[in-house]
Amino acid sequence: MANFANPFAGNVPRKMTKEELIQAVRLNIAGELEAIYVYDAHVQATDDPVAKKVISDIRDEEKAHIGELMTLLKYLDPEEAVHFAEGEEEVKEMLEDLKISIPSDSSKSTVGSLLK
Ligand SMILES: [Fe+2]
Repeated sequence: MANFANPFAGNVPRKMTKEELIQAVRLNIAGELEAIYVYDAHVQATDDPVAKKVISDIRDEEKAHIGELMTLLKYLDPEEAVHFAEGEEEVKEMLEDLKISIPSDSSKSTVGSLLK
């Protein structure tokens, strides 16, 4: 029988406060980033086309999870969302200085665009 880790090992035995929930979501995002890193390393480390396709698909699903979690984080902590938007604007200005345009698809799902 599988023996999974306790997902609440770092928490106290009660419902989380809002701040604890925000921290938990940040930890969830970190976990998704780590999963993407590992899946991508495995995609790069194999020439098996089926494995590449399946693992790439799973990796991309983890990216979608980050989008879900980031949206949840912005809902839970609107002030943090303002900081995300500030960072996005800074990079956009740098790209503008470099005369580099942002692909239209990426601007649809950016952090800042969800604030508007
Ligand atoms: Fe995930």
